[in-house]
Amino acid sequence: MGAHEPLLSRLQPYPFERLRQLFAGVTPNPAYRPISLGIGEPRHATPQFIQDALAGDLATGLAGYPPTAGSPALREACAGWLQRRYGVQVDPATQVLPVLGSREALFALAQTVVDPTQPGATVVCPNPFYQIYEGATLLAGAQPHYVASDPARNFAPRWDLVPDAVWARTQLVYVCSPGNPTGAVMPLQEWKLLFELSDRHSFVIASDECYSEIYFQGEPPLGGLEAAAQLGRSDFKRLVMLTSLSKRSNVPGMRSGFVAGDADILKAFLLYRTYHGSAMSGAVQTASIAAWGDEAHVQDNRRQYREKFAAVTPLLEPVMDVKLPDAAFYLWAGVPDAWKSSDTDFARALLAQYNVTVLPGSYLARDAGGANPGQGRVRMALVAETAECVEAAQRIVQFIQSHTPDP
Ligand SMILES: Cc1ncc(COP(=O)(O)O)c(C=O)c1O
Repeated sequence: MGAHEPLLSRLQPYPFERLRQLFAGVTPNPAYRPISLGIGEPRHATPQFIQDALAGDLATGLAGYPPTAGSPALREACAGWLQRRYGVQVDPATQVLPVLGSREALFALAQTVVDPTQPGATVVCPNPFYQIYEGATLLAGAQPHYVASDPARNFAPRWDLVPDAVWARTQLVYVCSPGNPTGAVMPLQEWKLLFELSDRHSFVIASDECYSEIYFQGEPPLGGLEAAAQLGRSDFKRLVMLTSLSKRSNVPGMRSGFVAGDADILKAFLLYRTYHGSAMSGAVQTASIAAWGDEAHVQDNRRQYREKFAAVTPLLEPVMDVKLPDAAFYLWAGVPDAWKSSDTDFARALLAQYNVTVLPGSYLARDAGGANPGQGRVRMALVAETAECVEAAQRIVQFIQSHTPDP
């Protein structure tokens, strides 16, 4: 990077921008109405009681500047949910902070914990990954190190293959569990390894857990704080988890989540956020307290996703390398061999012939060590109604069965 080149110029185009370019000049088959599995945005209805709580607090909630730390009642509601969901105990006064969705918090956290004056400042993140990790890293003045997920190990990122020399300059590690796009949940053994590495190399772990309530197996996904507590690390040293109501409660437009964990990190994060100016509106706080306090709507939401995945996955399994994920709302599918691992060709032809949009996996990953671990896969977000997702799957089956790519 040149001395005067702004950090901003290092940002990569966002995947949806690349998708627009990929699809430029493609005319989708007009015989089919468009169905998009491209964007991972919740589309189930926002529960009425959350809308009512928000509307009911407009008069007082908008009348004053909210404190950046949020109200004690909100922090207690978040801590109460952590206790019920994971059995972990956090101090609402020092170990919880409200954030405006996990996206801005994932970004802002890097700005808080990364010291770019250290030589080779590095942030480690999974590959494929949620794109914010990379932008947060670059704008914090650090360099990303990508850790490929291994399809043979339920897409576990191979933390064990990261060289010690990289760990030595690592300041922050992003964990995404349940993973976007893989849906994989990180097991306790991997947490143990990361905690040991964090002890040795003093890096911070940021655990992005916004899909934790959408899961398909019996047991709810293990959380980062839960893993720490199980391993006797109840001070959560160098660990913060980030979660959000967006997917859990179908309120992506409300922008509400929280971070919890290491009190020292949260103290610094509060200072950063005070200057950054990201305090949650009082009305949103009131609605968030209502949402964190209710599980019935979360169970209903999970049931809807389970029904949808149970209807769609078996349709695709015979024609693609795909299986029911542990959690989240994506299918992370391998394109058939005939496509010679070209996820972009597959996505473009699928749009042209059947008017279904999927996201090429290579757009969600980076070339590292000579390979792009997203290549040859596509991400399908099952966020629309079940009937629409089933129709999309049926079209994909037809597409694969009828089509051989150009030689
Ligand atoms: C892995 C992951 N983390 C965080 C987010 C951010 O969600 P929000 O800011 O709504 O909490 C998303 C959204 O798509 C995501 O996929």
